[in-house]
Amino acid sequence: MKKIVVLTGAGISAESGLKTFRDSDGLWEGYDVQKVATPEAWQENPQLVQDFYNMRRRDALAAKPNAAHYALAELENQYDVTIITQNIDDLHERAGSVNVMHLHGVITRSQSSINPLLTYPIAGWELKMGEVCELGSQLRAHVVWFGEDVPMIIPAARICQQADIFILVGSSLAVYPAAGLVNYVHYDVPKYIIDPKIPEINRIKNIIRIEEKASDGVPKLVKELLTGDPY
Ligand code: APR
Repeated sequence: MKKIVVLTGAGISAESGLKTFRDSDGLWEGYDVQKVATPEAWQENPQLVQDFYNMRRRDALAAKPNAAHYALAELENQYDVTIITQNIDDLHERAGSVNVMHLHGVITRSQSSINPLLTYPIAGWELKMGEVCELGSQLRAHVVWFGEDVPMIIPAARICQQADIFILVGSSLAVYPAAGLVNYVHYDVPKYIIDPKIPEINRIKNIIRIEEKASDGVPKLVKELLTGDPY
């Protein structure tokens, strides 16, 4: 089975009602990310950080997968698909994708604030101060904050090296190390980019630009990959 690797960003969830990061003038849902998505913010005001992610979790749980998420899940019928997502929502899983790697964590799980390897499912939308891990430390959202390591980046790079087809959907490629993954895809592998504003990618060969929103561009590409009919 041919291997397809898909790297998704906030743009694939935009049509599910979840805001992107760089389309909203540098604020995330009205907050400066330095105040709610860094280890320093957690030290300074853990309740604000907890509340911020509780609101993100409530939004993510209320959102529904869109046609792009469902189309990527369909690819699994004929291909060995791995989805590497920068998103913390679980819309890929809810659309039926099985192999999903969350580079920046996933909001439906909590993690120990002293050992990031200890993660737990969160029932419902709210994680409260006072809820602790098995070591007795306060639980926080299982999300990689700015300035923290991205432990999944090495396995993600290895997977990109194995791709026969690479698809990038809805990412500005503004944040490393995730943005560097495209360099691990072999030069002769076709790299489809689906985004209404295709990000600048230099010195990469074999790029096919699809300047459309995800819910239009992804189903069309998936149909072509499944039936061989160029759309
Ligand atoms: N369909 C497809 N792409 C879209 C759509 C859409 N309907 N709407 C917007 N986009 C594109 C934008 O053109 C942009 O290229 O989605 C991309 C969103 O870029 P960002 O907001 O930078 O999101 P992302 O690339 O996922 O950010 C990466 O940065 O803030 C950190 O950790 C956070 O995971 C995030 C990372």
